Amino acid sequence: MGTAGDLVMAIVSVQSLNSILATIGNNYEAMVENSRFMEKLRALLDQVKARERQRGVAMLEGSITTVEVAGLGFSYPGNNRQVLHGIDLKLRRGETVAVVGLNGAGKTTLAKLLLGLYAAKEGQVLVNGRNILDYQPGVLRRRMSCIFQDFGRFFLTLRENVAVGDIERVADDEAIWGALSTAGAAEVAGRLPDGLDAQLGRRFGGPELSGGEWQKVALARALLRDGDFLILDEPSAALDAQAEYDLYLKFKEMVKGKICLLISHRFTTVRMADRIVVLDGGRIVEEGTHIELLDKGGLYATMYHQQADRYREPEANRS
Ligand SMILES: Nc1ncnc2c1ncn2[C@@H]1O[C@H](COP(=O)(O)OP(=O)(O)OP(=O)(O)O)[C@@H](O)[C@H]1O
Ligand SMILES: [Mg+2]
Repeated sequence: MGTAGDLVMAIVSVQSLNSILATIGNNYEAMVENSRFMEKLRALLDQVKARERQRGVAMLEGSITTVEVAGLGFSYPGNNRQVLHGIDLKLRRGETVAVVGLNGAGKTTLAKLLLGLYAAKEGQVLVNGRNILDYQPGVLRRRMSCIFQDFGRFFLTLRENVAVGDIERVADDEAIWGALSTAGAAEVAGRLPDGLDAQLGRRFGGPELSGGEWQKVALARALLRDGDFLILDEPSAALDAQAEYDLYLKFKEMVKGKICLLISHRFTTVRMADRIVVLDGGRIVEEGTHIELLDKGGLYATMYHQQADRYREPEANRS
């Protein structure tokens, strides 16, 4: 006959056995899930390698001076709907071209084709007059940099988050501070207790940045790479008015001597461009400067006035 103490011991043992079994069960589940994920990752990496083997071996002489598409058409694999139709566009060194259009117009798809991330279905992408597929992929990648709408938020240190743009400069404090400062993120970095070596993201116990702060870090990442072709897809979407204005002031310096493709729904950002291309349903429907397009009174003018009128509305109501 056991004592009350023995009974309590027995209950506690059963309980802890239960929780041990539950832990093993959970870990097993996570293990199975992770191994499935690894299988997918390996298959993806194999696909990437296979595709890179099909790419050319040409080297790039000097820097990228033109990126051009002619008769470019594209549809996503497994979907017959054509997303881009007969796009003709030439981007030249020292020039910033904005692409505007409604959601789903094909702006991001066009940007990815220009970077060589997707292969054209019709027409070609030419870099310095030569088909992008003829080049060794790494050669062009080093000269191109981008920030996408769905930019990465890596649970790494701040330094590493920026250095993903150019990993060889991970220990180059001056370069990393320079990129952060141009991107308007120096103040964010200065506030973190460990500065450049602060671990970001709550998952690893680090501080969580705000959406706009993450966007500035992603912009710094794109700027760290000293490329010739810069693609900015919605770089200011999460920025406050002050940060967007600061970006506007630095912009000319930032894109000096580069080709820049700038995608934005904000006309304050679009106005940083030298030339604007309007996409509608995957087609270029208008092209010109801000003033020319306003004078034309087409889709650009309509979109611009819709946005501008919304700012003016309260004043109109007051009168
Ligand atoms: N990975 C994908 N697979 C299949 N279809 C896609 C994929 N990405 C985009 N699309 C389709 O291609 C079209 C163009 O999309 P895209 O992302 O280029 O538009 P966007 O102009 O950048 O729009 P937004 O202003 O919303 O960013 C859309 O109709 C979209 O549904
Ligand atoms: Mg897009």
